[in-house]
Amino acid sequence: MRQIGTAIGTLLFVATFGSAAQAGDAAEGKALHDFNCLSCHGTEAYTRDDRMIHSMDSLITQVNRCNVSLGTGWFDDEVESVAKYLNENYYKF
Ligand code: HEC
Repeated sequence: MRQIGTAIGTLLFVATFGSAAQAGDAAEGKALHDFNCLSCHGTEAYTRDDRMIHSMDSLITQVNRCNVSLGTGWFDDEVESVAKYLNENYYKF
């Protein structure tokens, strides 16, 4: 019984941690973004009149594209954190 309890506890921990990471962390996103993403374009790219991104889905896709072309090797949760930061501060979908 104790083993089952431990297994359930571990599963709950993973599930809780997993969903928190999925939602993205805007503070982590800002740190990642400011360190990696300002060499080609500044933040004005996100607020210009003819910006390309018009939905949260395409924002995540674009962050991923720039991430891949940069070779930063971010995981999905880091991409989502950066997308969340950009959305909260610039895109506001
Ligand atoms: C190697 C140069 C380069 C780097 C570094 C770069 N980008 Fe980009 N990014 C581009 C180009 C080129 C565009 C297209 C801009 C245009 O059409 O004027 C773009 C566009 C974007 C857009 C869309 C802007 C819009 O029109 O709404 C987002 C969002 C974006 N980049 C995010 C990022 C993020 C996040 C990073 C860090 C992982 C990053 N970029 C790093 C080259 C870069």
